[in-house]
Amino acid sequence: MGETNKRKIKITGTGFYAPDKILTNFDLEKMVDTSDEWIVTRTGIRERRIGPSDQATSDLAVAAARNTLDNASLKVKDIDLIIVGTSTPDTIFPSTACWVQSKLGADHIPAFDISAGCTGFIYGMILAEALILNGTNKRILLIGSEYLTKVTNWKDRNTCVLFGDGAGAVILEESRDDSGMLSSYWKADGKLGDLLSQPGGGSRIPPSAEMLAQDLQYLHMKGNEVFKHAVKRMGEAAVIALKRAGLSTEEVDYLIPHQANVRIIDATGRRLKLPPEKVFSNIHKYGNVSVATIPIALHELNESGKLNKGNIIVMDAFGAGFTWAALTYRW
Ligand code: ACO
Repeated sequence: MGETNKRKIKITGTGFYAPDKILTNFDLEKMVDTSDEWIVTRTGIRERRIGPSDQATSDLAVAAARNTLDNASLKVKDIDLIIVGTSTPDTIFPSTACWVQSKLGADHIPAFDISAGCTGFIYGMILAEALILNGTNKRILLIGSEYLTKVTNWKDRNTCVLFGDGAGAVILEESRDDSGMLSSYWKADGKLGDLLSQPGGGSRIPPSAEMLAQDLQYLHMKGNEVFKHAVKRMGEAAVIALKRAGLSTEEVDYLIPHQANVRIIDATGRRLKLPPEKVFSNIHKYGNVSVATIPIALHELNESGKLNKGNIIVMDAFGAGFTWAALTYRW
């Protein structure tokens, strides 16, 4: 068994929100030259959620936050920091976290975003651990929320079949028992940033007619390049995080990998020599919801009743940046 005595942070509530509207692979067949068979075989995705046009990332985040607070029997006044991970902020500034703070009526506390692509949830956990254990904060609301369908080019079959909208959240505080976050590993390689980006709309390529004509406001991805890096890095990150906790792969009860492609998920499970039943996947229902995939998956696993006290969980992600990270957690 790994370390039990070190101070740890603990997840004391989970929750999520996904828009009601479902976009199936069959719907996409009518929009681009693709097929349900191609999408299922190459990605594992069958359907994804798509939010209404008059909402934004903070709306999904607020719904997930309320669900999480209810599940933890907490009120807004009980939290002392809001962190939102997102790649699809409501506005470049103010941060989405500040919009969320306002909608929740959490005027008493600070709020900010982190931008780490699909890895944002694990980056957020690592940051929250430092803030809680050094005494800066007592109870943090960490939300991963994305409105990827708003930056999706619906004419590009290479990307439009992959992404969806949704949000997941957790409440974090210091652990008083053996459970909690045991170890982590985080990394980035900005040299590879162009392989997965939203090139337009920032200070490099500000909004202009030319930017729109070149579709630079949309998500661009060299899928097969990203795929290779994701498989390698997610495997590495999980192995390092386990080693840092003094845990062996045999001790892992659940892997919760970032949900980008079922082939990446399966490859990461194989790298850890885990049987399929220990590798959580819900990608068939939601597609890739970027930073929201892990908190949504964690909530679903928690709700399923399959998580038992003492279970060892590995969370593992890879995303735009590139960024990648993993953590181990004793439930
Ligand atoms: N329907 C039918 N054919 C398609 C489609 C589609 N929707 N999309 C691509 N194809 C075609 C391509 O055009 C290509 O055809 P060609 O050989 O005639 O040129 C062929 O299928 C193979 O294309 P590849 O891109 O090589 O296919 P691959 O097996 O790599 O699968 C995919 C593509 C699903 C995108 C995969 O590479 C992937 O999942 N990549 C990783 C994505 C990821 O991990 N992202 C990370 C995080 S995302 C974030 O941070 C927001």
